[in-house]
Amino acid sequence: MKLLVIGRNGQLARGIVENADRFGVQVISAGRPDTDVTDRNSVEATVAREQFDAVVNAAAYTAVDKAESEPSVAQAVNAIGAEHVARACAANSIPIIHISTDYVFDGSKDSPYREDDQTGPINAYGRSKLEGEQRVADACARHVILRTAWVHSPWGGNFVKTMLRLAAERPAVGVVGDQQGSPTYAPHLAEAVLAIARRAIADPAGMPWGIYHAVGMGETSWFGVAREIFRCAREHGLPAAEVTAITTAEYPTPARRPANSRLNCDRLRQSFGLGLPDWRVGVQDCVARLAQSAGNRLA
Ligand SMILES: NC(=O)c1ccc[n+]([C@@H]2O[C@H](COP(=O)([O-])OP(=O)(O)OC[C@H]3O[C@@H](n4cnc5c(N)ncnc54)[C@H](OP(=O)(O)O)[C@@H]3O)[C@@H](O)[C@H]2O)c1
Repeated sequence: MKLLVIGRNGQLARGIVENADRFGVQVISAGRPDTDVTDRNSVEATVAREQFDAVVNAAAYTAVDKAESEPSVAQAVNAIGAEHVARACAANSIPIIHISTDYVFDGSKDSPYREDDQTGPINAYGRSKLEGEQRVADACARHVILRTAWVHSPWGGNFVKTMLRLAAERPAVGVVGDQQGSPTYAPHLAEAVLAIARRAIADPAGMPWGIYHAVGMGETSWFGVAREIFRCAREHGLPAAEVTAITTAEYPTPARRPANSRLNCDRLRQSFGLGLPDWRVGVQDCVARLAQSAGNRLA
């Protein structure tokens, strides 16, 4: 089974590459500069280069705040770029697994969002991702769209790494406590993607194509995540800060964020028998790996 993953330097793509062997899947990863999703020709050439069995589109414009000032760049990558990948998949008669976000919702629901709940993005990034979902679904019938949230990993920029950096600079941090969601560890999400890809390749006729939610089990606030990060940091002898909960209003950002980012993952469990581990397990592993690499750097 040969899987093409686009967006090679991203958190999810690296998680997929790291875990592929355990799933018996050969992964070829592609990314900029040679494969740029905004360039239809480069996408078509990459997808047709080898006999791939499926494609994961993990490439995205993920700078949520910056997207407010350059929405057309976000749209070029997250909407039109995603369509380029989906069209290339359809042309080669292979399925696409495309990654989307909790930010397609406005956050006003008082319980976790289900896949068929009303969408209504409140920022430019969310609008570009929602348009991407629609373009992917229209372009390639054999699609799985996985909406995830609050992704972190030992790689790239993310909330865990930001908190650890802040703790090295100051004794206390204020963290937003009135946005609810489920932190998702990229290697855990990668395992779900690999399991879905394997099933899509092995049993295309029996495949329940469509939209799914996939986030770490359990829920918390950014404040709750920060507390867990620093608890783990102390265990590993890394700098930790005191955390206080602040409100979204006290921490203004260019992009509005949904107050409720919780995603109900029942459909993923029922259709694929898959569930991601508890979000705390992901944070613990992430901090442990970062502590180990910090130790290696100091050694
Ligand atoms: N991060 C989150 O908290 C979060 C939350 C919800 C959903 N998601 C979704 O989950 C997926 C994976 O996210 P992630 O956290 O792994 O993202 P990430 O770490 O920001 O990586 C995104 C990757 O996309 C690549 N990329 C950007 N523009 C591209 C283009 N025009 N052509 C080809 N590649 C391009 C980037 O390449 P370069 O290295 O060249 O810049 C980067 O390697 C995305 O669909 C994202 O929208 C993420």
